[in-house]
Amino acid sequence: MYTIDELREMVKAELEKQEYVGDPYSLYEPIIYMLGDGGKRLRPLLALLAYNLYRDDVEKALKPAIGIEIFHNYTLLHDDVMDDATLRRGRLTVHKKWNSNVAILSGDAAAVTAYKYIEYCDDEYLRRGIDGFNQVAMDVCRGQQYDMEFETRDDVTEEEYLTMIYLKTSVLIAGSLRHGALIAGAPEKDYTALYEFGGYLGQAFQLQDDYLDVYGDVGVFGKNIGGDIVTNKKTYMLIKALELADEATKEELRGWFARRDGNPREKIEAVTRVYDRLHIDELALQKINAYLEKSYAVLDEIQVKPEFKEIFMEVIRELIGRKK
Ligand code: IPE
Ligand code: IPE
Ligand code: MG
Ligand code: MG
Ligand code: MG
Repeated sequence: MYTIDELREMVKAELEKQEYVGDPYSLYEPIIYMLGDGGKRLRPLLALLAYNLYRDDVEKALKPAIGIEIFHNYTLLHDDVMDDATLRRGRLTVHKKWNSNVAILSGDAAAVTAYKYIEYCDDEYLRRGIDGFNQVAMDVCRGQQYDMEFETRDDVTEEEYLTMIYLKTSVLIAGSLRHGALIAGAPEKDYTALYEFGGYLGQAFQLQDDYLDVYGDVGVFGKNIGGDIVTNKKTYMLIKALELADEATKEELRGWFARRDGNPREKIEAVTRVYDRLHIDELALQKINAYLEKSYAVLDEIQVKPEFKEIFMEVIRELIGRKK
């Protein structure tokens, strides 16, 4: 059984090989830039942990695991264009450092690279692996489309929001675990249970991302605070605020939505003050905990040695405490 640190080290070393680089270098350079400076690398870690539940030869799962990380980074390359984000992991986003065309095309190249890596598995798992991954990839697109469409609506329900984040974020976290289990030859019921576990974990994860987008510290979070407020993202925070606010406050919030081009700082401060007043932070943290509880319950159903479960708990504890 590997420790989290050992698995992280293996992921890092595999990524550093940069075996995907070809000509022209300029196509791959933004991918190297994205992958070079970390991020939490949660998804490959989860894939390897799931694999390690059933098999010891974790090095065999390394290429698919980093394929998933490369896929994640492709979604971020495009997401930063769509969200007009300037900062990621404390550095300029690719479309700001280069331009949008670069982010789009290098993102495409990253997606293809991701599939090349994900294909590294025994032939008997290949078709199911690719099918499963295609479903995840399409779900991410569906979620991202909802996310964009919600920007111009002010009647998004909590349920719609939860479906949207499930698609854009949770399925990839769930799919990472499921893929690790698949290529290790896990029993069918574990394959399904790990996907369900990851789905709940993913919900908690995106809720926390939305929370940190308001209450995080830019130096640690590595992204600009208030980005979701500026772009009128219908986050859990905003949906709850619209639900709980009195008429005057609702009007105030709607007034801010209409002002996309005003002073962003003013808008962020005003909307955050509304959240503070309504104690939306507490509601978000409660919702995160409710999803974590659901994830623990599913984890309990998986028949593996307790020390393995402890390792998953360690990852979850890290995520709960996360500030980035
Ligand atoms: C960012 O993912 C996108 C979301 C789904 C919130 P991460 O928070 O895993 O980003 P990195 O890879 O660690 O930077
Ligand atoms: C990201 O959601 C989901 C995907 C990239 C698919 P966000 O837009 O909240 O992610 P960040 O905050 O930019 O990392
Ligand atoms: Mg974004
Ligand atoms: Mg986004
Ligand atoms: Mg976010």
